[in-house]
Amino acid sequence: MRMYDLISKKKYGGILTDEEIFFMIDGYVKGKIADYQMSAMLMAIWFNGMNSHEITELTKVMAQSGDMIDLSPIAGKKVDKHSTGGVGDKTTLIVAPIVAACGGKVAKMSGRGLGHTGGTVDKLEAIPGYRTVLSREEFFNTVEKCGVSLIGQSGNLAPADKKIYALRDVTATVDNIPLIASSIMSKKLAAGSDCILLDVKTGSGAFMKTLDDAIKLAQTMVTIGEGAGRRTVALITDMDTPLGYGIGNSLEVIESMEVLKNRGPKDLTEVSLQLAANMLYLVGKGSLDDCRKMAEKSIQDNSAFETFCTMVKEQGGDDSVLRDYNKFEKAPYSLEIKSDREGFITKTDAEKIGITSVILGAGRETKESEIDFSAGLVIHKKYGEKISVGEPLATFYTSRKEKLSDAEKIYREALEIGKEEPKKIPLVFARVEKDKVEKFKE
Ligand code: URA
Repeated sequence: MRMYDLISKKKYGGILTDEEIFFMIDGYVKGKIADYQMSAMLMAIWFNGMNSHEITELTKVMAQSGDMIDLSPIAGKKVDKHSTGGVGDKTTLIVAPIVAACGGKVAKMSGRGLGHTGGTVDKLEAIPGYRTVLSREEFFNTVEKCGVSLIGQSGNLAPADKKIYALRDVTATVDNIPLIASSIMSKKLAAGSDCILLDVKTGSGAFMKTLDDAIKLAQTMVTIGEGAGRRTVALITDMDTPLGYGIGNSLEVIESMEVLKNRGPKDLTEVSLQLAANMLYLVGKGSLDDCRKMAEKSIQDNSAFETFCTMVKEQGGDDSVLRDYNKFEKAPYSLEIKSDREGFITKTDAEKIGITSVILGAGRETKESEIDFSAGLVIHKKYGEKISVGEPLATFYTSRKEKLSDAEKIYREALEIGKEEPKKIPLVFARVEKDKVEKFKE
C-alpha cells in the first residue's frame, strides 16, 4: 500500500477502506508517513469528506493509537463532558462538581486553551497548588473519594490526534466535520467513560459558525459514541457571545465558584444546569426534569461547592482562595474602558473578545508562551444590555501594561452598539440524542 495512492483516491472522492485508514494513521504515528503527505490527505478530506463508516473507523484507529483508559475499577457509571471550545466557557468547573454532588462519577481529562478559546487545565492551574497531573492510582482514588477528578490529558491519549491536530492547525484544515468529530471522539473513547455529554458550540467564537453545521457535527459525534457502546447526548449552545462575564483563568475560576454559591450570572448558570442535568440523565439518575431539580438543589445546599473544594484539596490545591478571592494573585495593571455612545449592545463578538484576553496574557500566543493566570477581562455590558455614554464596557487585567492599547482596540472592534434592542438568542439551540434532534426556541 502507498500513501500516494490513498491521497489520490480521496482527491477523486473515493472511499477509504478500513485497512487503508489503519495504514495511514499507524504509518503517520510511527513516522513512516511524512507531514506533507498527511497534509495533502487532510486537505483532500476537507474537500471531499468522509462517509459515516470512514469517520467511525478513523475515530477508532485514532483512539487505539495510544492508551485506552479502563475506568472499570471505579464503581458506578462514569460520565465525561466535552465542549468544542469557547470563550468564557468555564462550565466544566461547574458541572463536574454538581454531577458528583448528585451521585454521578466524573473522571475527566481536560485540555489546555487553543487559539482564542480557553482550556479547563489552564483554569485549574490558576488555583495555587492544584495538580493537574496525577498517577493513575491518585486519579482513581480522587474519583472514589470525591466523585470527581479533573486532570490534564495523559501524554499517550490518542497520540494520532495530537499529531494530526497540530498539522491541521497549520494547514487550514481544522474546520471540517469528519476531522473535528474523529479528533474529539477519539479522545473521548480512549478516556474510558461510559457516557459522554457533548457541548457543541455555534456562533462567531466557535468552529461551527452555523446551527445546521453544529447539528451535523453533533449527529456525527453522537453516532460515533453510540456505535462504540457509549451513551452519548449533545447540546448545541451559543458561542456568538462569551459565556458569563469573566474571561481569563483566575477570573473564570472565581465566576464558576459564584455559580456554585448560587449567585453566578444567569446565562452561565442556565447552560451549566442544562449540561449537568443531561449528564445526570445519562448516568440514569432519572428524567431530565428530575435531574435538573437535583442539579439546582446541589447549588442551593452548597454541596456542589463543597465537593469542588474537597477535590481541590485532594489534588494539592489551596481551597481557601475559593472562599476568599482576594487570595488570588492580582494583575498589576488594569484598565476600565467606557462607552462613547448610548444604545443597546447588539454584538459581543466572542472570537475577538477571546483574542483580547490572549493579548492581555490569559492565553498562549505561541506554543511556548507562559499563561498569566491573573490576566483577562471582565465584561460589564454584553449582547442585549443597555449602555449610556461614559458607562464602563469592560475592565482589563494584565501584567503587560504595553498590551493594554492593542487589547482595547480589538475589544472595541468586537462590539456593536445600536439603537434597537436586539432579539433574544437562545442559550441552548438544540439537543441531539441517538436518532433524535430537538430544536429549542427562546
Ligand atoms: N477540539 C478538538 O479536540 N478537536 C478538534 O478538531 C476541534 C476542537
